Formats: sequence, C-alpha cells, structure tokens
Amino acid sequence: MVIVIWNWSVLLLVTVLWNDAESLKITSLYVPRGATDDAYIDCRYDLEGEPLYDVKWYKDDMQFFRCMADGSVHEFPVEGVYINYSNHATVGSCPINLTRLSSSSAGKYKCEVSLDAPTFRTVSETKILRFMQSERRTQVKNDISSQNMKSVFRNQTDAFKAHSGVTTSKDSLSIHVVIFMLIFCSF
Ligand SMILES: *[C@@H]1O[C@H](CO)[C@@H](O)[C@H](O)[C@H]1NC(C)=O
Ligand SMILES: *[C@@H]1O[C@H](CO)[C@@H](O)[C@H](O)[C@H]1NC(C)=O
Ligand SMILES: *[C@@H]1O[C@H](CO)[C@@H](O)[C@H](O)[C@H]1NC(C)=O
Repeated sequence: MVIVIWNWSVLLLVTVLWNDAESLKITSLYVPRGATDDAYIDCRYDLEGEPLYDVKWYKDDMQFFRCMADGSVHEFPVEGVYINYSNHATVGSCPINLTRLSSSSAGKYKCEVSLDAPTFRTVSETKILRFMQSERRTQVKNDISSQNMKSVFRNQTDAFKAHSGVTTSKDSLSIHVVIFMLIFCSF
C-alpha cells in the first residue's frame, strides 16, 4: 500500500515537472461571463522563449481573429462577432474589443496559441460569454461592483442593527424572567 502511494506521488511529481518543462501556457484568458454592448477580451500567454506561430480566436469553433508572430492581425467574418482592435498585437497577448453585442454573440470563446517549428505545440482555453439584456448596463465581472457591495453591506448593517435591537429587548426580557424566577424560588 505504502509502495503504491509512493509510486503515485513520484509519478505525480514527474508529471508536474514535465509539464513545467514543456513551458508554453495561456496565463490568462479574459472573457467576461456576461456583457451588454461591448466586451474587452484578451488572451495572454507565456512562450518561455519558444517561437510563436500564431494565436487564434474562435467563437463556437469558428475562427474570427488571428494574431501572427510578426505582430500583424487578421479578421475573419463570423456571425454575431463584431470587433474593434488595433493593427498590431505585441507577442504575449492578442486583445480585441467585441462591439455591438447581441444574443448571437453569446457562446464559447476559445483562444488557441501555436508554436512554430520544431515543436508546433498548441494550447487552448475556452470561456463562455453570455449576452445580458440591456437593463443591466455594466459588464458582469466575476463579482458584483463595489458600489453594489457597499449598498448590500449598508443594508445588511441596517438589518443587523434592527435585528440586534429586537434581540436585546428579548434578552433583557429573559433576564427579567430569570431574576423573577430566582426571587420567586427563594421564597
Ligand atoms: C474602435 O476603437 C477606436 C479607438 O479605440 C474608437 O475610436 C472607435 O470608435 C471604435 N469603433 C467602434 C465601432 O467601436
Ligand atoms: C478597447 O477599447 C478600449 C476603450 O474604448 C480602448 O482603450 C482599447 O485600446 C481597445 N483595445 C483594443 C485592442 O482595441
Ligand atoms: C438597499 O436598500 C435600499 C432601500 O432601503 C434599496 O433601494 C436598495 O436597492 C438596497 N440595495 C440592495 C443592494 O439591496
């Protein structure tokens, strides 16, 4: 049993070290969970000195954008995807602004980074973007805005104060009852 566990941990360690040695990775994929009008998306990656071939953006497996190793960018028409971008992308990221979002813009956004020769290795990551109806104007990040947070906190504080007020009067009532009982029993 011990030997089995030991073997497994060695295997795990080797796997971790091996993956580390392979180096190419997407460090962060910025795709908001939900958006109304526009959304900034970006794919940041770490080549660890290996040569880039290109970075591709897909929506539901259809390619709509590409950043090349020389910094040039290319756009491909895909239904529901309208973009705004700069004409040059620095190696390490491939940023785009999605504009005129509609329900047909919702879907799986995938970034795929490919190395050039000799390895031609490829890594990819996908996130889902939802289209929000326009009464919710702001992009929904992974948490609620601080404004909202403050107001929730304030409301909760108010509620707590109100609640603890009630509790205190109940507590003092029960103390009175206990004192009364003590006095009553001592007779
Ligand atoms: C695209 O971006 C540029 C500069 O960031 C801005 O001036 C322009 O209005 C944008 N176009 C659209 C369609 O959003
Ligand atoms: C995206 O839009 C923002 C705000 O309009 C602008 O500052 C930024 O440069 C744009 N980025 C790209 C890659 O077009
Ligand atoms: C806090 O309470 C006020 C009214 O007391 C309300 O208008 C507001 O929407 C509440 N905020 C939240 C986040 O619940």
